[in-house]
Amino acid sequence: MADSKESLSVTDNRTGETYEVPIEQGTVKAMAFRDMKVDEDDFGLMTYDPAFTNTANCRSTITYIDGENGVLEHRGYTIEDLCEHATYLEVAYLLIYGELPKQDELDEWVHEITIHTFVHENLKEFLGGFRYDAHPMGMLQSSVGALSTFYPGAKNIDDDRERFLATIRLIAKMPTLAAFAYRHNLGLPYNYPDNDLSYPGNFLSMMFKMTEAKYEPDPRLEKALDVLWILHADHEQNCSTAAVRAVGSSEVDPYSAVAAGVAALYGPLHGGANEAVLKMLDRIETVENIPDFLQGVKDRKERLMGFGHRVYKNYDPRARVIKKNVEEVLEVTGKSPKLEIATELEKHALDDDYFTERKLYPNVDFYSGLIYEALSLPTDMFTVMFAIPRTSGWMSQWLEMVKDEETKIARPRQIYTGERARDFVPIADR
Ligand code: CMC
Repeated sequence: MADSKESLSVTDNRTGETYEVPIEQGTVKAMAFRDMKVDEDDFGLMTYDPAFTNTANCRSTITYIDGENGVLEHRGYTIEDLCEHATYLEVAYLLIYGELPKQDELDEWVHEITIHTFVHENLKEFLGGFRYDAHPMGMLQSSVGALSTFYPGAKNIDDDRERFLATIRLIAKMPTLAAFAYRHNLGLPYNYPDNDLSYPGNFLSMMFKMTEAKYEPDPRLEKALDVLWILHADHEQNCSTAAVRAVGSSEVDPYSAVAAGVAALYGPLHGGANEAVLKMLDRIETVENIPDFLQGVKDRKERLMGFGHRVYKNYDPRARVIKKNVEEVLEVTGKSPKLEIATELEKHALDDDYFTERKLYPNVDFYSGLIYEALSLPTDMFTVMFAIPRTSGWMSQWLEMVKDEETKIARPRQIYTGERARDFVPIADR
């Protein structure tokens, strides 16, 4: 009889009818409400949930978040353990396949990604067609979409080999497209991939190599970038991942679906917060100005950027790792006065009831911008730096969706609030 309690009894007061709705994994099926009708002709009840704030769109085994306790796990491994013991490509494998790779599997995976880092020369020309000051996220979005025209076989999404190739190609080519966009903005020749280097090392080479015959990345920066990319690899059903799944549910090729993810990430409410943090630290200017700035936040004249999160109501576990990471990067690149302001700002906010009562703690973006700035990246590149690692998350979620028997084309309902059955008015009479 214990099972009989796993349900919801709903009485429709319009009809007096009572319905039993099964509860499964803490959820009820929205379609169960469709049976609740006032008469045979009635369409049935729908649920209304703008922004899907309380609607699960899928079952997933990829990423677990416990926002109340500040926990983030990929395939059951904590983000702290992954950052300490794994490389970004190892985590990408874990996201895609569900298990950590054995050594030979990892070697094969890294080899496959490494030999797919080059892009077609026409794609280079395509990027060359952008204006000198084109935003690199706009360039990335369109060039990722354009990849579908180079690999038309990717539209066979039921073919295992095609899905594998698209996964490898996207993870391999994203840094190349990102670095080409950066070099384009500077009017510098594009650097081809160097397949002798590691995944982050090659990215640094494509970004910063000048006249030297061989670029030798600083291992400390390589490591810092790798950790940063692990931290950004996946974050379950965020806006861009939901976009990839929604667009992918139409059975379009994965390049087009991931281009939709890049577009969603471009928005300032999603991938753009790290840039806003730096602008805020610039405005604060000195540690002495922090109390006045925080008063402005409490008076609602300002927003404390890099603080707060829809899901985490405790310290964002990614922020804790990244803070250590910033210190390591600054050891290589030199001190940043902004780190002192950021650290003091965090201390003041965590000491203030206004912020703790609202559960406002630093999120991943509070410190990531400082690393990008230390690497001499222009602010326009910050969101691009997020898109590179999120590609493995997008692809793992896309693969999961394609193989899920419950997947149907995403097609929400609406509550129509407009006019009905109006008489057409000829233009002369309007
Ligand atoms: N500064 C000041 N007050 C804040 C902030 C903030 N950053 N965030 C939330 N609040 C206040 C808000 O005013 C509200 O107060 P009250 O109840 O008195 O009206 C209370 O805290 C609850 O906030 P909310 O707006 O209901 O929270 P939300 O879940 O809708 O917003 C958020 C989440 C991330 C949009 C928001 O915290 C925010 O705007 N933060 C700054 C931007 C930022 O850092 N974004 C990066 C998110 S992490 C990267 C990613 O995953 O893409």
